[in-house]
Amino acid sequence: MAKKVILAYSGGLDTSVAVKWLKDKGYTVVAYMSNVGQEVNVSKIAKRAKAAGAAKFIYHDLKKEFVKDFVWPTLKAGAVYEDKYYLATALSRPLIAKGLVETAHKEKAHFVAHGCTGKGNDQVRFEVTINILDPKLKVIAPVREWELPTRDAEIRYAKMHGIPLEVTKKSPYSIDENVWGTSIECGVLEDPWKEPPEGAYRMTAPPAKWPKKAEEVKINFLKGIPVGINGKRYDGLALIDKLNKIGGKHGIGRTDLVENRLIGIKSREIYEAPAATILHEAQKDLESLVMDRELLHFKRSVSAKYAELVYNGLWYTPLKKVLDKLFDATQSRITGEVRVKLYKGRAVSVGRKSANSLYKKELATYGAGDIFDQSLAKGFIELWGLPYRKN
Ligand code: ARG
Repeated sequence: MAKKVILAYSGGLDTSVAVKWLKDKGYTVVAYMSNVGQEVNVSKIAKRAKAAGAAKFIYHDLKKEFVKDFVWPTLKAGAVYEDKYYLATALSRPLIAKGLVETAHKEKAHFVAHGCTGKGNDQVRFEVTINILDPKLKVIAPVREWELPTRDAEIRYAKMHGIPLEVTKKSPYSIDENVWGTSIECGVLEDPWKEPPEGAYRMTAPPAKWPKKAEEVKINFLKGIPVGINGKRYDGLALIDKLNKIGGKHGIGRTDLVENRLIGIKSREIYEAPAATILHEAQKDLESLVMDRELLHFKRSVSAKYAELVYNGLWYTPLKKVLDKLFDATQSRITGEVRVKLYKGRAVSVGRKSANSLYKKELATYGAGDIFDQSLAKGFIELWGLPYRKN
């Protein structure tokens, strides 16, 4: 009996060629596709998988799970990689890997495969996760092994073997998208000096089309999780979708980053993440109102560590789990509302309120109603500076 392999299948050239390549190596190929919010035509992709030689096509819609178990914990953690990347791609990988492992169990397969190259972070995220979830599964990475050095070579291979290709003109970029954002690289973007051409962006409107008038959105939070827009409740996925649309119209959430990949090279990538940008801005702002200084500063100091763990494929690891508990605890009082103004590519908090606010106007005011006892400041300053006094 042929060995069975579950291949993470996207419908693109790499994974279509991988189906045929694996089949030629003697495997029965099950093409597994999960939806984390990318644009997909499921029936078309299923057909392509079969035409490339897959024995079976399996589809999972994981969008809700993605938001609940991956996006929200990362938002609560305030995790942004190298200050600019909201981790959309990085977050989707452990979930897709989990889907692969579960499918392998159901299908009684001993092999799983992915279409990542040997130069990127995604191979690490997939394989580390698979190894953690089931160390007995064997991973195959055809793109790392086959002798098809260029895209043209892959296209020739596909044509030779009757693998149907996308008829639409191939984008000059490599694009990965999900509900939390889009990652775009390759082509002209490989020159870090060159400004990204307008045509590289897909979620956000070009500057010439940004509305001349600012738009305000109010974000409602419950324990650190966004639950509503302008007082109306939305489930997580619908809320993110809506903010992507509104934010995208105003050009919110574009970033351009020369980043440090885990495997040691620098790469230039541009990102679009309208909803993520608005929500991180609003959530941080609400924390400023509600958290005491020590908790706020400590929390902020560990956010970058969490971002690193996510980026480096260490989702299902002990430190990540411990940090989740910590961040959860920090969010227990982050309930309230933030007014965010969207205008010409920027999302700025302009107002905030919460029943848990620690802001006391009677202490802060320079106007009437001041109850702050200024005479106490003198003694406080003396003791505060005491360790540094020379006489
Ligand atoms: N650099 C990002 C990361 O490692 C995204 C990788 C995928 N990007 C792409 N354009 N296909 O998470």
